[in-house]
Amino acid sequence: MSANAMRIQTLIDQLEMERTLSDAELEELFAILAQAHKGPGAGKVQICADIPQAVCSEEEAILYAAARRVREQYYGKDVYLRGLIEFTNYCRNDCRYCGIRRSNKKAERYRLTKDQILDCCRQGYNLGFRTFVLQGGEDLSYTDAAICDIVSSIRALYPDCAITLSIGEKSRESYKAYKDAGADRYLLRQETSSPAHYRYLHPEELTIENRKRCLSDLKELGYQVGCGIMVGSPGQTLANVIEDLRYMQDFGPHMIGVGPFIPHKDTPFKDEAPGTLTDTLHLLAVIRLMIPGVLLPATTALGTIHPVGRELGLLAGANVIMPNLSPVNVRGKYLLYDGKICTGDEAASCRHCMDLRIARAGYQTAMVRGDCAGFAVND
Ligand code: 5AD
Ligand code: FES
Repeated sequence: MSANAMRIQTLIDQLEMERTLSDAELEELFAILAQAHKGPGAGKVQICADIPQAVCSEEEAILYAAARRVREQYYGKDVYLRGLIEFTNYCRNDCRYCGIRRSNKKAERYRLTKDQILDCCRQGYNLGFRTFVLQGGEDLSYTDAAICDIVSSIRALYPDCAITLSIGEKSRESYKAYKDAGADRYLLRQETSSPAHYRYLHPEELTIENRKRCLSDLKELGYQVGCGIMVGSPGQTLANVIEDLRYMQDFGPHMIGVGPFIPHKDTPFKDEAPGTLTDTLHLLAVIRLMIPGVLLPATTALGTIHPVGRELGLLAGANVIMPNLSPVNVRGKYLLYDGKICTGDEAASCRHCMDLRIARAGYQTAMVRGDCAGFAVND
């Protein structure tokens, strides 16, 4: 074993046992991993026989093996699927990274009706999905009453399914109303915990304080909550990422969404470099070790920057995949970033494709609600 591999082994052992490292140690860990990744091909390790691209340095192999070990302690070989329904791409916000920001006049806008959403759920249910994720821009044309009506209809039709909302910043009262209507989970990435970085990514009217207020309200209201960040977003430093790790460990989310930033051609960040596959995989694995029972998706963005990005995500400790259930005629319009995959595929073909991909990575699809390990669902 090389000196670097031995050092990584020591740091990973400590991370696995104590679930934390000092800032300096985390910096050292990420630096060694980045350097090792660039190293010569001779010392490379194949970590999955069925995926030729699953090759990494000895140091990365140590990290990923630890992440998989921990993941398997909590979730075995199961991968949970979530059916994603992108029901509106209207958005009142103007986040500088996002393709559906309100200033993007080129985005072709659409909204799904309640019936269209229920149709997606029916299709998804028949394909075996037991979690529906309703995601959209912040579109106030769906009033709280409308959201509650949609949620309670899904709740009544599919009592055995989890309902996840991902519709942005709302008041505590709104979150409470959705919860009472039957929503179980809520996804809202903090995007970055650093106030200065948050300011760089977002327009004035959005603040990190309100974002964190939303996350705390959601948690107090009893939701399973997902937060998260983009990897390699413009202006992001390693210190920012470490701050995010600290924030997330302290907050205790049930789910963490982490994918690479990918520029969108009609946004102010169009010329920025995308986040890398390698950085994303390193971070996924470190999150798995620091917050072991968390639900960790291998994101569509990860699948977009690399043909087997999601499979590599699973091999780095991720345990959730979120295939698209949106009607095919709107899929190509929900474009947060360029090059998004699966925009032309029917739900059934994505479902089948995911089974094959998950199996190839050595895991199995579990068509269950897939709640966070240790979260008591009282129904
Ligand atoms: N690249 C990658 N991810 C993005 N998101 C938004 N825009 C982009 C982009 N250009 C992510 C944000 C948001 C989630 C729904 O999608 O992190 O929270
Ligand atoms: Fe959509 Fe493979 S997951 S086509």
